Amino acid sequence: MKVLLTGGPTREYLDPVRYITNRSSGKMAKALIGVLLKRKHKVTAVLGPCGVKCPKSVKTVNVETARQMKNSVMKEAEHADAVIMCAAVADYTPVKVSAVKIKKSDDILRVRMKRTPDILFCLGRKYGKKKVIAGFAAETDKIEENALRKLRDKKCDMIVANKVGEKGAGFDSSMMNAALFFREGGKNHFGKISKNRLGYIIVREIERLRQTKNK
Ligand code: PMT
Repeated sequence: MKVLLTGGPTREYLDPVRYITNRSSGKMAKALIGVLLKRKHKVTAVLGPCGVKCPKSVKTVNVETARQMKNSVMKEAEHADAVIMCAAVADYTPVKVSAVKIKKSDDILRVRMKRTPDILFCLGRKYGKKKVIAGFAAETDKIEENALRKLRDKKCDMIVANKVGEKGAGFDSSMMNAALFFREGGKNHFGKISKNRLGYIIVREIERLRQTKNK
């Protein structure tokens, strides 16, 4: 398969020196890239700033903002059989980016924010019938309820839900507290699992879903 994968965070600039971002080390994306290459898939990675170095065989597109990520993902998705949205995309971006460094004045700084494009939603709408689309859901609470809502609203085939905000799993860690939910029905709870093992399970599920879509 040709697989497009996103990873890392996005950065939404306030001015030339400051930005708002999400937590993501890129470890989950790195684990997925490793498994995809081992299983002989052709990989394109659209990565936010996370320091992940991809092997030469991976077409790597480095981006910063959610808007840049969307543009690259929608372009690269045309050639893909499956897309995995592992990136932690910022949901809001400042309405205005100041051209100069914002000076300290009042005690409180108010920043107006607007929604960023929902890349997974756009992918699901455009390619949901033809390509396998897998999303992630990073949640602190109501994991299953939120994951199922994202699965439905974003029209993807699979959501990898993960509980974040606890020590020993999630951001930065080599472990994940994860569960898979499928559009076709069914779920699989793993509890704490290594990102490498989870990457393997995700890739095998994508291979299976690709076969059912091809029928
Ligand atoms: O990088 P690590 O430190 O290894 O951590 C991995 C991870 C926890 C960041 C990762 O596994 C993860 O959960 N990524 C998704 C985080 C996230 O943004 O979740 P969300 O529930 O806010 O978004 C749901 C889905 O929509 C995600 O697939 C996300 O990529 C996508 N999305 C979100 C917002 C947006 N504007 N566009 C999107 O496409």
